[in-house]
Amino acid sequence: MSYNSGMFPAQLVLAPMARYTHVAFRQLMAELGGTNLLYTEMLNARILCNTNPAHDIFCQKGNFDFPTAAQIVGGEPDTIATAIKRLDTMEFDAIDLNMSCPNGAIVRYGWGAALQKNTEKALTIVSHARNATTLPLFIKLRSWPDHNMEPLISFCLKLQKIGVDGITLHPREMKDGFKRPAGWQDIKILKDALTISVVGNGDVQNIESALKLLESTGCDGIMIGRAALVRPWLFWEITNQRKWQGSPMDVLERMATLMDFHFTDKKYALKIFKAFLSWFLRNWLFHRYLYGKIVNQQSISEITSYLSQHLPNEPILKNIPIVAKL
Ligand SMILES: Cc1cc2nc3c(=O)[nH]c(=O)nc-3n(C[C@H](O)[C@H](O)[C@H](O)COP(=O)(O)O)c2cc1C
Repeated sequence: MSYNSGMFPAQLVLAPMARYTHVAFRQLMAELGGTNLLYTEMLNARILCNTNPAHDIFCQKGNFDFPTAAQIVGGEPDTIATAIKRLDTMEFDAIDLNMSCPNGAIVRYGWGAALQKNTEKALTIVSHARNATTLPLFIKLRSWPDHNMEPLISFCLKLQKIGVDGITLHPREMKDGFKRPAGWQDIKILKDALTISVVGNGDVQNIESALKLLESTGCDGIMIGRAALVRPWLFWEITNQRKWQGSPMDVLERMATLMDFHFTDKKYALKIFKAFLSWFLRNWLFHRYLYGKIVNQQSISEITSYLSQHLPNEPILKNIPIVAKL
């Protein structure tokens, strides 16, 4: 199946990002255009089984019509299958299983990237997931230790046999977090070994790096995370192969409006809006100063009002100062 609008020769996918890819941000991305597929953040399978997913701002699909994948994280095959079925009424376009998260609690439970160490269990999970849905099923992976491709390929060939529709590879080792550049060569090796679609992920920041990832690996799509938080218009730029000429302040104001619309808990919305700004403000040289000015403000409208007067007039930075945390 294809989500491609036909303008760019690959799928352009918004990465799942915990705390950030809630329904308001996804709607903003849909409106700015250029992407073919949006992701929810990783949704905890146990929580999905015990609460109404339609009430969760991070799970809601919204009433804007845009291809969206729900990503699930967990470690029990039956729980994951039940969680997938609980999403049935929400009209997602694809299901993704997170086998890439390297973070403490997730890995301690044996979920996310820890499933690399227990591939038999991972395959059982995927079989259960495959039986639970007819939607396209994707798996998001990290590179194996020492970038050893042989076990990764052998695992992915089994996923292919089970009926998985696509793999996304973030080619960093579990232990590396965001350290070291993403090893794009792993994406090429995996793409050459599989017949199902392979989406490449890691360190794409602009039109040039998107094209480079695509050309150097032959991958079927590109997934972008952090740079989309800084430049939500990046997918538009990649699709149209030219610089976006819009106003960043307009984007920020639209984000504020969408958050006000979707979030009923305004205090929580404020917290999440500030988290978004910790990325978005990196478009300007004095982003730390600006962030310091807004971090203690008490409402989203106070923040947008301050920024509408104080965002620097100079053009945004050419390169994004990306580090994992501000
Ligand atoms: C704040 C944050 C939250 C993330 N949450 C998730 C998540 O929920 N599920 C997931 O598979 N990956 C998650 N990731 C990883 C991204 O999806 C992506 O693989 C990674 O950021 C590399 O892509 P990038 O270089 O384009 O940012 C997260 C990354 C960041 C920065």
